[in-house]
Amino acid sequence: METITLQTKNTTYDMAISPVGHLLHLYYGPKTNCDTSYRLQYYDRGFSGNPYEVEGDRTYSLDVLPQEYPVYGNGDYRDNAFNIQLADGTNGCDLRYKNHRIINEKYSLDGLPYVFGNEGEEAYTVEIDLADDIIGLEVTLRYGVIPEKDVITRSAVIKNNSDSKMIITRAFSTSLDLLHGDFDLIHFHGRHEMERLPQREELNRSVTSIGSRRGNSSHQHNPFVIVCDKKTDEDHGAAWGFSMLYSGNFKFRGFKDQFGLTRNMMGIQDDMFDYPLEPGESFETPEVAMIFSGNGLEDLSHKFHKMIQNNVIRTPLKDERCPVLINNWEATYFDFNHEKLLDIAKNAKEVGIEMFVLDDGWFGQRNSDEAGLGDWRVNEDKLGGPLRKFSDEINELGLKFGIWIEPEMVNENSDIYREHPDWAFTIPGRKPIRSRNQLVLDFSRPEVVDYIFEQISNVIDSANIEYIKMDMNRSLYDIYSSVLTEQSFGLILHNYTKGVYRFLEMLTQKYPHIRIEGCSGGGGRFDAGMLYYTPQIWASDNTDAIDRIRIQHGTSFGYPISTVGAHVSAVPNDQTGRTVPLNTRAVVASSGTFGFEFDLSKITEEEKEEVRYQIDNYKRFWPLIAYGNYYRLHDPEKDTNVASWMFVSQDGDEALINAVSLDKHGNEPVNYIKLRGLEPETQYVITSVTKDDDAPEPFISDGNALMHSGIPLPIISGEYQAWQWKLDKIDTIRRRNEVDKEPSEYDIESIDTKETVA
Ligand code: DGJ
Repeated sequence: METITLQTKNTTYDMAISPVGHLLHLYYGPKTNCDTSYRLQYYDRGFSGNPYEVEGDRTYSLDVLPQEYPVYGNGDYRDNAFNIQLADGTNGCDLRYKNHRIINEKYSLDGLPYVFGNEGEEAYTVEIDLADDIIGLEVTLRYGVIPEKDVITRSAVIKNNSDSKMIITRAFSTSLDLLHGDFDLIHFHGRHEMERLPQREELNRSVTSIGSRRGNSSHQHNPFVIVCDKKTDEDHGAAWGFSMLYSGNFKFRGFKDQFGLTRNMMGIQDDMFDYPLEPGESFETPEVAMIFSGNGLEDLSHKFHKMIQNNVIRTPLKDERCPVLINNWEATYFDFNHEKLLDIAKNAKEVGIEMFVLDDGWFGQRNSDEAGLGDWRVNEDKLGGPLRKFSDEINELGLKFGIWIEPEMVNENSDIYREHPDWAFTIPGRKPIRSRNQLVLDFSRPEVVDYIFEQISNVIDSANIEYIKMDMNRSLYDIYSSVLTEQSFGLILHNYTKGVYRFLEMLTQKYPHIRIEGCSGGGGRFDAGMLYYTPQIWASDNTDAIDRIRIQHGTSFGYPISTVGAHVSAVPNDQTGRTVPLNTRAVVASSGTFGFEFDLSKITEEEKEEVRYQIDNYKRFWPLIAYGNYYRLHDPEKDTNVASWMFVSQDGDEALINAVSLDKHGNEPVNYIKLRGLEPETQYVITSVTKDDDAPEPFISDGNALMHSGIPLPIISGEYQAWQWKLDKIDTIRRRNEVDKEPSEYDIESIDTKETVA
């Protein structure tokens, strides 16, 4: 049997073309160089039919064999990845192999985000043409390979070569049949203000299906999932990750078939999809990036982090630290004026903050969420003059200036809606579903996108803007585009998402020097598709540090820490009413892009001093936080006493450990944190970063002791205390002292080695 094999540094993906031309899946796992087609076994299975061409062979059935792109129409009764409806009302197709080619670069997508190969980096594409000549349908499966990163991407191009219209009722991007074994699915569910909480459940005979029908990838489910062996944990076992580069409706479906094969499929949401394909037209599915690791969830996360940082995020600013910012939202909400804003900015400057971000409420009649959205004209009364004057004032304070926008939305009480009511999604004759008093603009229409872009662009051009927060504050409904004669839910919503991407493409092309932070009521659109355009995303509207520990922990499975928008806010917290110490709020927010979200004139001089220290620390540790390997040490979904996580630099020379105590108990035992990612026999100096009288003195220990026995957490009265420690290899310190002649932070010889943890 002819096979097609994709090789990455550590993995192999194997397919076979069956004698009658079906593309079968053979293997995706640790690297192998052998022909894996022996895995296919053929038996006569009752009620599993056979294609006509195999004549009397009752052992060849597509209902049993593992497939690359399972369709309805060739005898596979299982849930499948692709369905098409023909003009006569019949369903289905039978795709047969035609051709394949290897191209020496990673393919790209038209108007959609994709994983790209970097200059000098090996990357290639395998395109496999399948067709059903009877109905005139062509499907090209595309596989993009970035060998060094173990990344394999998938997307399909579906073309109608017939004379009649076809309707695509389902077109997923990927399908992976795992021949045998028991697997769990880890997915990330949530809600507004509590996003991406991991849930692990068995994939079994019933179909497990998660996804979004909200027009954004959503707070409720995330287009990143992991399928793993039942015994897989952080540092052992097989895990397959699927990250969809798409910010609209999506779906994952996984289940075990009658003979124990597990099918995993992911792609654009098919509920109500009905995507029309006229003769000659084609449809390109969004891309799903897959990575396999045989070394557990931690290694899988590290690989996805690297892929997103190096092969998804595009901005030329990606290697620069986001300036530590103050955002006025939780400080003022809509209630601000020129004086109040300047006061917040001045106080921010005093503690070392580097950028002021003006959030919602600066335009039109936007004094509450009831009006003004869509009128992108500066409210000069509120800002004390034109935006240029205001941004100059901010710049004169020594701060950069950033601004909030929400291009896709409109209030009915706005000039733009009064002029163009047909630009908003509403179904004729029906009253629309309102959400946060706003409707959604029909971004499937290029003229709407162009108009909004021009308005916002005029504002950007009028001032010195170096950062934009692009928000999106409701789910889509009432899907009806007034320019179409035939309404198709799938077409409109897909074109809407492409409209958002076009807006972002124009924004990033015209303003490459502006850093954009994605946002959708916090983390409603936290996906790899958005990260192609925006290097960071506001992770949640929940700024409570304790909830954030869970949100950021869940986010870390699929997304690098450098992408996580995180701020310190006031206490009691606006979302939960909880009071958490300032140090803890900063420790949690510093595992992200680090900013502030409250009026610093309201804190004491002593607290301001603490904030200064925290900002300096963040700047000092940023390279480690952004580019180090991230280790989840405790699972906050299970451990109620302590949360902890750490960063280890790529060269292994230094590390930063973070811990927060959660539940408190009387006469409580000591909690220990077992470290990870260290060299077993190397000696390290452990120093407290936290300024605290109870903080342990620096001590020396080796990787073995630190990883197997751990560091004890001081017992301090009061909930939610946080600590940070820095680890340096002794040799590195010696080198710095002796060779580099850098001023030493440590006098190693004075540290009592007897106090090491063993
Ligand atoms: C939702 C965002 O997530 C908040 O941070 C803030 O920008 C508001 N929208 C403003 O309306």
